[in-house]
Amino acid sequence: MEEKKYVRRKRYSGKYPKSFEEKYKEKQPEKYQDLIQHVMEKGNTPAGMHRPIMVDEILTFLNIKPNQIGLDATLGYGGHSKSILEKLNHTGHLHATDVDPIELPKTKKRLISYGFTDHDFTLHHLNFRDLDQIPVQGFDFIIADLGVSSMQIDDPKRGFTYKSSGPLDLRMNPEIGIPASVRLKELSQEEIEGMLIENADEIYAKEIALEITKTRAKGETIETTKDLHEVIKRALNKVSKSTQEEAIKKASQRTFQALRIDVNHEYEALFDLLEKIPLLLNPGGKVAILTFHSGEDRLVKKAFQHYQRQGIYSEIFGPDLPSLDEIRDNPRARSAKLRCAIHI
Ligand SMILES: C[S@@+](CC[C@H](N)C(=O)[O-])C[C@H]1O[C@@H](n2cnc3c(N)ncnc32)[C@H](O)[C@@H]1O
Repeated sequence: MEEKKYVRRKRYSGKYPKSFEEKYKEKQPEKYQDLIQHVMEKGNTPAGMHRPIMVDEILTFLNIKPNQIGLDATLGYGGHSKSILEKLNHTGHLHATDVDPIELPKTKKRLISYGFTDHDFTLHHLNFRDLDQIPVQGFDFIIADLGVSSMQIDDPKRGFTYKSSGPLDLRMNPEIGIPASVRLKELSQEEIEGMLIENADEIYAKEIALEITKTRAKGETIETTKDLHEVIKRALNKVSKSTQEEAIKKASQRTFQALRIDVNHEYEALFDLLEKIPLLLNPGGKVAILTFHSGEDRLVKKAFQHYQRQGIYSEIFGPDLPSLDEIRDNPRARSAKLRCAIHI
């Protein structure tokens, strides 16, 4: 009998995507509708997508009329923009800004695929703090949904989370400024501690700042998301074992948030936006802002109260929170707060 030839067994490729690039094939979601539906039903956001938050509440407040001119200051995946464009129904115009040069062209294609054209919307690759550069007389409404999008968080190359390995970058616009890894080399121990407290109320700010300094002194680099995560783990090694895992998780989330706010100058940009909105809203114009942590929310609250006292906003509303149903369907909505105001 002839000796059996060894046939290499076909490698089991597995059911699930192995890398971010493979995940849900974000460039052809139409082919993966069932999978995307399944992921969303489990309360997750498929990679490459972002689920807009409190859309009904925002649309009810805006009560958009035909021919209005609006601004979505944080375009992202275009979820809010799409709903607004549907309300405008090919009348009026929607301007939208975003600093992210990677996601913006993808969102433009997506909005075009829904049947909207240059006649309906204009996208500006612009920081919202420069919204006065948009050539319009005034806006009937402005919305901002602060922070980062799911696409940005989920892409390891952008370094927004300790959960996947990537360069410690955290810039929404990687074409300007410096990555977080470089920023960490520039700051003194005291400055890192201050940044962690100011931007994220970090309770282990002292320990984390000290461990970062010790790591630098040993000549070790903190270049990747995993490097920083390891530093945080070491900083919290005295926390009791029963609560350590949760403490490390929370401290990591807060540390990444603090760094993100720092490298993107988020408070400065928000401050400028809040100052310029009253100058750019038409009489009776409306503004709706979604925030995701206490630092941003405080700034929005203070600005709205200030302009109400000055008689520039006739009414202010909020904070409104997402419904429990929305939080169950989309856990990323859980920390959202909506504040709204109406110009006199
Ligand atoms: C939470 S996402 C917006 C999601 C969007 N509402 C949607 O439904 O898809 C926030 C977006 O705002 C952008 N962004 C953050 N700060 C910005 C700024 N200062 N100027 C312009 N865009 C900014 C981010 O790049 C990100 O794409």
